[in-house]
Amino acid sequence: MANLFSSSIGRKFLMSISGLFLILFLIVHLTANSFLILDWAFGTETGQMFNAASHFMATNPLIKVVEPVLALGFAVHIIYSLIISFQNLRARGNQKYQSGNNTQGVEWASKNMLVLGIAIFAFLAIHIYDFYLKMRGYRPWHPAEVEFPFFGLTATGENAYTLVNDTFSHLWVVIVYVIGSVALAFHLAHGFWSAFQTIGWNNTLWLKRLRVISLVIAWIIGGGFSVIAVAQYLFF
Ligand code: HEM
Repeated sequence: MANLFSSSIGRKFLMSISGLFLILFLIVHLTANSFLILDWAFGTETGQMFNAASHFMATNPLIKVVEPVLALGFAVHIIYSLIISFQNLRARGNQKYQSGNNTQGVEWASKNMLVLGIAIFAFLAIHIYDFYLKMRGYRPWHPAEVEFPFFGLTATGENAYTLVNDTFSHLWVVIVYVIGSVALAFHLAHGFWSAFQTIGWNNTLWLKRLRVISLVIAWIIGGGFSVIAVAQYLFF
């Protein structure tokens, strides 16, 4: 057990498992956020589907259990990625300057995972400040109460849609979100298949397939968040 936290392969394993867990969270988060632009497709009033999804997140007891686990997932991923990156830098010594970022056959993203991770972390700090702290009552926010359909009934809850819609009415915010989401896409394009490789998926044919699956998932996630932010700015 101690080996898991102190050995190099144990740390990489923890980073991979926490990374895959965070990808799962991102898929759920993107699905919930897609309701921001899908009302027209389902014929519901603008904002109703997102308000229902937000209400579900705020009132479901399971989400209260998942939130600390999510925070732990982020903490493990960030702490171990920093430890591993600095160990690698130290082990390489001066050689890091000789190899540069253009070594043939090595993807750009795989050589810039730490930089991409730091950019995503900076984005996340802004994001949590903008939304999470307000919606959880840590920053002032006075939403109007609205009604929306909720599992066949009518529920009343805060108008979370207006918070997102107001936030994305500023061009600079949309630009920050697009940059953050593109950094995320590059990070995942390498991180996803690399995590599978670390946990023992060494089959050559499957590693090739996983690289393609990685690219698709990475750009659905990164592209999806970007499209939502841009669409909110332009059309809503
Ligand atoms: C269009 C882009 C996005 C929108 C509109 C959006 C919206 C939101 C909202 C409204 C919340 C608060 C939820 C609540 O407190 O009930 C939230 C929380 C959060 N978001 Fe995002 N988000 C976006 C992109 C991202 C991205 C790219 C990431 C990760 C890199 C991310 C990670 C998180 C995390 C970790 C939380 C806190 C945990 C949670 O409340 O579930 N979000 N987001």
